[in-house]
Amino acid sequence: MSYQAEYQAKRLTAEDAVRFIQPGDDIIVPVAPGEPPALLNALPSHSGLSGNRLFRMLTAYPILDVETERVKEVSLFLSRQDRPGFFEGRVELLPNHFSDIPSVLQQVSQKRVIMTAVSPMDENGYFSLGTSLSYIGPLLEGAKTIILEVNENMPRTFGEQNRIHISQVSVLIENHFPIPTVANPTLGEKDYQIGRTIADLIRNGDNLQIGIGAMPNAVMEFLADHRDLGVYTEMLPDKIVDLYESGAITNSNKSMYKGKTTATFAFGTKRLYDFMHENKDIYMLPCSVSNHICNIAQIDHLVSVNATVEVDFLGQCNSETINGKYYSSSGGQADFAKGVRLSKHGRGIICLYSTAKDDTISKIVPTLPKGAVVTTSKNDVDTIVTEYGKAELKGKTIKERTEALIRIAHPKFRDELTFEAIQMGLLQQKNFFTVGGR
Ligand code: COA
Repeated sequence: MSYQAEYQAKRLTAEDAVRFIQPGDDIIVPVAPGEPPALLNALPSHSGLSGNRLFRMLTAYPILDVETERVKEVSLFLSRQDRPGFFEGRVELLPNHFSDIPSVLQQVSQKRVIMTAVSPMDENGYFSLGTSLSYIGPLLEGAKTIILEVNENMPRTFGEQNRIHISQVSVLIENHFPIPTVANPTLGEKDYQIGRTIADLIRNGDNLQIGIGAMPNAVMEFLADHRDLGVYTEMLPDKIVDLYESGAITNSNKSMYKGKTTATFAFGTKRLYDFMHENKDIYMLPCSVSNHICNIAQIDHLVSVNATVEVDFLGQCNSETINGKYYSSSGGQADFAKGVRLSKHGRGIICLYSTAKDDTISKIVPTLPKGAVVTTSKNDVDTIVTEYGKAELKGKTIKERTEALIRIAHPKFRDELTFEAIQMGLLQQKNFFTVGGR
């Protein structure tokens, strides 16, 4: 049978395709832009579902309208869409490092159904995972059922474990929906101050991992005139296209994947997805490869830039909960924090505004509050940046860290933080420094 004939023979409607899922199967969909919306929408119509789990990450679509006894949703990273469901008990959160997701799911899930959007089939019968290779590539092996949602808007990308052959596919549907996009964050004055400070730490020839959110994105505003930058990242953001256009990115100084930008998923605007389509400079990697600390360690001159919610005097970063309540998850923050310490000339930068809620809350805190978690540990933390400058914590004692962090706290909170540090025995009275206004 020709590949085209096999394609047509496997083509069904979404409602019929999901009937291939049996009770107790685990349904695994990729990170946001690769989610298959028509298949997800069709799931509640499948009366045979019972005791199934649905694993999703950073989902772009609403959670399912279906009883949890039939389908339990398990989030691998909360998003705006599934956060309310988490607090209503309709979504559960599975703690993870992004690098570990394939091995964790291989361990806990023996009956795996992969449901993913893909780019159209090529002449050799292959579909590409497009924007969202992430954990899907490694989980194809041993999957019980593979259901595809073919979308001509999904860019065809290259990389490792990034394609599926028609012979592996159980069934497929076609749905040419617009891929979810995320607008470029609106940047404020604080973002620019933070971006400028971080850009000053990045040298020509450095390789970059840029994390999620406005602050990490602001850094790229100041890199247009840098030269020979490389990209070894987890999430590929939109502004990468600007840096290619300005000539800043050449990937020529990469000790691995020379000449290639590597990422495990992309989330941006259509401009980014168009840029990725059949672009041989973009090389997608499974998260078990891109985020494995041994691989990160092989990339010399790697600078990681990630955001956090709050930092305590030890340098512990909580990047997942706000006011003690779950907001997001670890993603690859700890993978990169650990990995860059092993990279030759590597550097880990974590950024945050000094305050939240109109300067009423300091985000530099004596201790993490109740309900907070440690995403980047005190032993992995390197450099913290706020709009007041940088605190280089790596190699510093607790006392030195406390002083350095108070210096980049909002001036309004510096005396109060100093008082707390004295109470905690981290600074001594004789060293008390009135830092307000400095
Ligand atoms: N106390 C009270 N409120 C706080 C707060 C604090 N300490 N810190 C933040 N907030 C509020 C903000 O004011 C904002 O409120 P608003 O929506 O009303 O404006 C809201 O919480 C979100 O904060 P913000 O700083 O805008 O979050 P973000 O969307 O930029 O995300 C992280 C920041 C840290 C949550 C996000 O980067 C993350 O999840 N990181 C972990 C994963 C990671 O780094 N992966 C690495 C590679 S992708």
